Amino acid sequence: MLIEEFGIDPVILRPASAADAGEVADIDHAARLSALPDVRWPHTPSEKRHWIAETLIPSGGVHVAVEGGHVVGYVALRESWVDQLYVLPGQWRHGIGRALLQLAKERYPRGLTLYCFHCSPAARRFYESQGFTGAAAGNGAINTGDDSDMLFGWCGGAEGEGQGAALDPAGGSGPPHPVT
Ligand SMILES: CC(C)(COP(=O)(O)OP(=O)(O)OC[C@H]1O[C@@H](n2cnc3c(N)ncnc32)[C@H](O)[C@@H]1OP(=O)(O)O)[C@@H](O)C(=O)NCCC(=O)NCCS
Repeated sequence: MLIEEFGIDPVILRPASAADAGEVADIDHAARLSALPDVRWPHTPSEKRHWIAETLIPSGGVHVAVEGGHVVGYVALRESWVDQLYVLPGQWRHGIGRALLQLAKERYPRGLTLYCFHCSPAARRFYESQGFTGAAAGNGAINTGDDSDMLFGWCGGAEGEGQGAALDPAGGSGPPHPVT
């Protein structure tokens, strides 16, 4: 699906395939390093790479943004949870994150929820700009002791307004793949 043009090369959103696993892992690693260089993540890059290839992509729900034949961002959805959303650092502020989140909204128009662990001010502003509201996540649903952890919800568009499960982790099954 061609969704929008950014500069010369069109950006295409499509379901991820096994062949995308390496580029998805590269983006995941590069984005974390750029956005949150001081955070100590619970998994090594190679453990995360293995998990992306063997679990995340095969389980479905992953879409990639492709520009010039290369993956430049990805979103992983699990039911109405945004499990992972990362854009290649050199491509930030080109509308790719917005396009991936828009895809998620179209698939789950009644509402979306996500945890943003170690949420940077930039990521917070991104989600808020896309209609999400956030609350500190030290509510028992997760308890990392880090007040930058945020739970965000989007309550759906005009049709789904007020019907989403946003900011109600106790009412849903929760994200099976925590964003780490
Ligand atoms: C957050 C992230 C997904 C945003 O993707 P992106 O493609 O750069 O975002 P977009 O270009 O679609 O931005 C859409 C809007 O969000 C807001 N926004 C995005 N990045 C922003 C920033 N750094 N500062 C302020 N607002 C920002 C702006 O309103 C922007 O619209 P504009 O550029 O027209 O002003 C990307 O920066 C990323 O992968 N960051 C690393 C992930 C991360 O920090 N996660 C937290 C830990 S889980």
